[in-house]
Amino acid sequence: PVTLSVPCSLVYSMDGKYIVFRGCRFPKASHTLESLRYAVNFQVRDDDLFAVTYPKSGTTWMQEILPLLLNGGDLTPVQTIPNWDRVPWLEETRAALVLGDRASPRTMVSHLPYHLMPPSFFSSKAKVIYVTRNPKDIAVSSFYFHQMASFLDDPGTFDEFLDKFLSGEVLFGKWTEHVKSWRNLDIEDRILYVTYEEMVQDLRGALGRFAKFLGKEFSQEVLDMVADHCQFKNMKNNTMSNYSLVPKEFMDSSKSPFLRKGVTGDWRNHFTPEQDARFSAVIKEEMKDTSCKFPWDDE
Ligand code: A3P
Repeated sequence: PVTLSVPCSLVYSMDGKYIVFRGCRFPKASHTLESLRYAVNFQVRDDDLFAVTYPKSGTTWMQEILPLLLNGGDLTPVQTIPNWDRVPWLEETRAALVLGDRASPRTMVSHLPYHLMPPSFFSSKAKVIYVTRNPKDIAVSSFYFHQMASFLDDPGTFDEFLDKFLSGEVLFGKWTEHVKSWRNLDIEDRILYVTYEEMVQDLRGALGRFAKFLGKEFSQEVLDMVADHCQFKNMKNNTMSNYSLVPKEFMDSSKSPFLRKGVTGDWRNHFTPEQDARFSAVIKEEMKDTSCKFPWDDE
């Protein structure tokens, strides 16, 4: 059995549909104390690859892209294995079931902030692709996700949800804390930063950057094929990636599909000018001491 170095009672509590573990909020439906212990004690290998995201930033997209790239464009994994087993979340219950004896190189996703990564990660050479997205679009995407996913709290009105989002009373805490935690110079030689917006604008270009970062060379045909397969409209039709395998009682796509719009700037259809000003002021204040520059900063 795996154990934490400090008693669990000191580091977690239950809050309705969530486990709050070391200050971070995880949905109970897919996370247990055991799965979090598994993540904490996980033995990271030097050739492991992580795609790390704050929720609603493009995780599912990376679960499609990475197996295709790493298998030279072979469609078999993305057509036969559900995304949550194909590229599992390190912190979720599936990880222990599917990662244990998986051969290297292993690919995982994670929503963990930097400081919650397993100790073995810090001493490893494992690589990370960190995907971030305009937090206003994340808030909109998350609002709809809370409406369709019964294992999450009812989001209330959009205005109420924005307040929760800004104060970090949502899955995995504050967006600003997550993004800042991963701007870590200790691992700058093994982390690649990309934005959802860059991927929407030029997926083919982003794939080229991923390939270079992974030290791989692909033919133009393979990159074109991966870019085509990973278009929003194609992924939406892939039952192994569109969450249609999840029973309606957990995820009700008639309320909002998981692969909802796949665009940038949808926040403009949802935010009032007052909400825009309030949201921008909080994000700007919390990011002011960082050197982070994002494509949406001057919008
Ligand atoms: P929207 O709700 O704005 O449509 P995550 O996988 O991290 O939960 O993020 C989900 C968001 O990524 C959703 O955003 C989803 O539609 C979007 N997404 C998933 N695959 C995509 C793709 N191939 N192209 C563009 N957006 C994609």
